[in-house]
Amino acid sequence: MARVFSGIQPSGEMHIGNWLGAIQNWVALQDAHDALYCIVDQHAITGSYDPASLASRTREMAISLLAAGLDPERSPLYVQSHVPEHTELAWLLTSVTPLGELERMTQFKDKSQRTESIPAGLLSYPILMAADILLYRAERVPVGDDQLQHLELAREIARRWNATFASDAPVFPEPQPILTTASRIMGLDGEAKMSKSLGNTVGVTESPEAIWQKLRPAKTDPARQTKRDPGTPEICNLYALHRHFSPAETVEHVAEQCRTAGWGCIDCKRVLSDNMAAALAPIRERSAELTASPERVDAILADGATRARRLAQETMLVVRERMGFLREG
Ligand code: TRP
Repeated sequence: MARVFSGIQPSGEMHIGNWLGAIQNWVALQDAHDALYCIVDQHAITGSYDPASLASRTREMAISLLAAGLDPERSPLYVQSHVPEHTELAWLLTSVTPLGELERMTQFKDKSQRTESIPAGLLSYPILMAADILLYRAERVPVGDDQLQHLELAREIARRWNATFASDAPVFPEPQPILTTASRIMGLDGEAKMSKSLGNTVGVTESPEAIWQKLRPAKTDPARQTKRDPGTPEICNLYALHRHFSPAETVEHVAEQCRTAGWGCIDCKRVLSDNMAAALAPIRERSAELTASPERVDAILADGATRARRLAQETMLVVRERMGFLREG
């Protein structure tokens, strides 16, 4: 079975954008792949962040992932900082990566423009990401399209390292992306991708009432000023969500009611809210159980780290030897 690796930042509770855009796919990939999943807390410190909540956000993300159906027996789930080989490999790769390749990354260019003092970690972020993947010699990486450039750089890093240090027998496969079919999920403001930092999300464990409170004021087709104005479902963000959460007949009915101004947006939102709450109910229940036993969650993460580390250590023995380091006596 091909090895799959992916990582997610510890943003706390998962939102439906993460779930539809990535995590459902992570869950599905477990069946036919040898998967490892990592909560990348060391990536999360490359911008300004709150140290007081990092640990709880990390555990909350683990709970969301488990509640969404990751099976830690089959696919080790662990925290990046619990496996120190990630940063060791990242340093070795940093030493052989041209600065220009990092400066070209669009995410770096965007983020560095918005900060006055740019942490070096923001620049080397994609090297740590390459190290995450290469450490397990992963062949496939489920990612969003915003990470494709980083993955391309990871392939370049693998290629160059192989050519320099292992031209007789390549150590690292060149990791290929797996793109999800769910296109990027827009936030409830209808303006930007759903993102915790923009406050336009619905969390996967929110109560039916909380979901309704968020959907009720959400932005719809601006042509629908009043109930009597017909709209265009294809340009409405909430219609896009119906396609993920409602059965096919409902999706069709909703579209018809929008085009003919049969329903008002509020009617459409009510149905979406009910269907969303129903779809998320099992995640919410499992999440509540896990939240009640944090020691169980920590034990799962510890077991994941032990299994991941075993694989990481095997790779590092080869990497250190190939790069010429003196072996510890
Ligand atoms: N950079 C990724 C993101 O922000 C997270 C990530 C870190 C990752 N390491 C990874 C994704 C390795 C895939 C593989 O979404």
